[in-house]
Amino acid sequence: MLIQAQDIQQVGNAMMNMLHEDELAIINDFYGAVKSKDIEKIDELFKTLLAEVESHFQTEEEMMKQSGYADMQMHKSDHDLMRKKLEKFHKRWEVLKGPKEVQGFLEKDFKKWYTGHVSKWDAQTAPHIA
Ligand SMILES: [Fe+2]
Ligand SMILES: [Fe+2]
Repeated sequence: MLIQAQDIQQVGNAMMNMLHEDELAIINDFYGAVKSKDIEKIDELFKTLLAEVESHFQTEEEMMKQSGYADMQMHKSDHDLMRKKLEKFHKRWEVLKGPKEVQGFLEKDFKKWYTGHVSKWDAQTAPHIA
């Protein structure tokens, strides 16, 4: 397991908490496939994760937009940073099929970003959006 449920801060918006909870299962499944070097499963779950993350980010951005949240651009910039990294590592995966590299990214970068993003940006945004 890469991230435990209690590592992710609950924020003041039920929709956001639901998005995080659903995504957590996929993140941990993906991490399991990466650790067991199951190439086919990584192929499949990498795409599932990318789609899930995109829908998570877009839902939050749409809620911020509709509520006219003042710091939306800063929050979105932090999403964009992770969008770019995921895209980069997915492209490298498609060519190299190297589970070690993906494992390193998940353990050293993604986990810290994810829990930190929720504690900072999502927690700060939650009370301001519908
Ligand atoms: Fe979020
Ligand atoms: Fe966010």
